Amino acid sequence: MYIDCKTIAKSIDEETLNLSSRVKPKLVSFAINPDESTLAYLRNQQKKAKALNIEHEILVFESVETFQEKLLKACNDDTVHGIFVAHPLPAGVDELKIACLINPDKDVEGRNPVNLGRLMYGEETFAPCTAAAVVEILTRTTDLTGKNAVILGRSNTVGLPLSVMLLRRDRSATVTVCHTKTRDIGEMTARADIIVVAVGKANFLKPHMVREGAIVIDVGINVVNDRIVGDVDPEVANRATLTPVPGGVGVVTTAILMNRVARIASRGDRF
Ligand SMILES: NC(=O)c1ccc[n+]([C@@H]2O[C@H](COP(=O)([O-])OP(=O)(O)OC[C@H]3O[C@@H](n4cnc5c(N)ncnc54)[C@H](OP(=O)(O)O)[C@@H]3O)[C@@H](O)[C@H]2O)c1
Repeated sequence: MYIDCKTIAKSIDEETLNLSSRVKPKLVSFAINPDESTLAYLRNQQKKAKALNIEHEILVFESVETFQEKLLKACNDDTVHGIFVAHPLPAGVDELKIACLINPDKDVEGRNPVNLGRLMYGEETFAPCTAAAVVEILTRTTDLTGKNAVILGRSNTVGLPLSVMLLRRDRSATVTVCHTKTRDIGEMTARADIIVVAVGKANFLKPHMVREGAIVIDVGINVVNDRIVGDVDPEVANRATLTPVPGGVGVVTTAILMNRVARIASRGDRF
């Protein structure tokens, strides 16, 4: 069985459209030496922004120096409400240094350490979008209280912030985070009520690793033979409730990102 993530995204989009019809939200997306998949992602972002009445500018750079200059300009420009910096950054670029440059009040992806610090206090206005999308899907699907949630992956973008968000007192899941040094991941997942998979390995989670009736959130995006596939073997849908790939976490993530831009524009103040 699959979770209908498109309907979740649609309901977020409705709120966004309602906001963007009254204000003029603007998102600026930055990329340094992007590869084809990043450019494809940005084009997709642009299509979505257009559909939601959000002005969208894409700025592509060859060097970090010129990028930094324009980034700081956008941070101080009152007509810009949201700033997105495409990842992964080129090798050798200091991710933390770039994250610190993003104005925390426009940091729609929640990369600035100020926003990651706010998460520790349960403040999720600028929580990382993908982690926020997983929480949105889960809270619309089940009551998390006391549930045994196993997260595969501990990145700053997904697994780590998600673990904090699921632990928040009003959710109160019991959280286990697995990574490459975890022993017997299958034993962990087989006991889980909820499994979130964000490892970036096609079909990593197999049916025998999942207990009957579990909820499985597939964050993965992998290209195999020119097709996009997730981190979860589709056969898992025969024994668990699963998010599809494509059309799952990704569509909710983009909806949340655009919603943030519209919210910032409509508040007209600082968080
Ligand atoms: N749908 C969306 O909106 C969205 C957004 C962002 C990312 N994604 C996708 O989600 C996936 C993960 O992204 P990410 O940025 O979190 O990736 P990442 O930074 O590469 O992190 C991957 C994590 O998975 C763990 N891992 C990798 N192989 C493993 C294995 N064999 N066993 C156990 N753990 C393993 C790594 O462990 P270590 O820490 O030990 O290395 C790491 O913590 C990718 O497919 C990405 O494209 C989707």
